[in-house]
Amino acid sequence: MSQGVGPEQDLEILLDAEKIAKRVRELGGEISADYRGRSPHLVAILKGAWVFLADLIRHLEVEVTVDFMGIASYGASATSSGEVKITKDLDVSIEGRDVLIVEDILDTGRTFHYLQGLLTAHKPKSLKLVTLLDKPSRRVVPVRADYVGFAIPDLFVVGYGLDYAQKYRQLREVRVLRSLPSV
Ligand code: IMP
Ligand code: MG
Repeated sequence: MSQGVGPEQDLEILLDAEKIAKRVRELGGEISADYRGRSPHLVAILKGAWVFLADLIRHLEVEVTVDFMGIASYGASATSSGEVKITKDLDVSIEGRDVLIVEDILDTGRTFHYLQGLLTAHKPKSLKLVTLLDKPSRRVVPVRADYVGFAIPDLFVVGYGLDYAQKYRQLREVRVLRSLPSV
């Protein structure tokens, strides 16, 4: 793509593709070691996490199964209200399974807190979270991820699956959106 005409125009790179690939490979190694001899059930949260999932899963050396859950926070706003809507429920039961939630980013923690409550009620054997990005300074609910790709400052980021108003998911890098365009 030539300079300045693609969707990445003016968006400063925070994490380049190479850095992301290296870290995702490392996370795959850590997760494989921790789940050795078990068969985790990955639940990726739509839509932001599917690019990360696609790369992560190819670095897992244990047998896995995959399901998706669709969660949408209302509107196109840049912060989650904590009011979430399920747009796609799980296809298969997680009862007795070692569930690993795959998220794009942990921000206020409200989405994960909500998911924890919801999924725990279905009696998984274990429930852990892997998130590509973590913005610890933004936390409103005191939750933490078991595996974090990168802790980042309080910036709104897009790319590698993450969107703003459904745009920019295709970027190969994680980039900073300084001024949020109106939608
Ligand atoms: P939380 O409920 O505040 O933890 O928000 C989690 C969700 O908000 C993520 O799964 C994203 O969909 C969205 N989100 C939070 N921060 C960003 C960001 O910097 N870029 C894109 N989406 C974000
Ligand atoms: Mg999300």
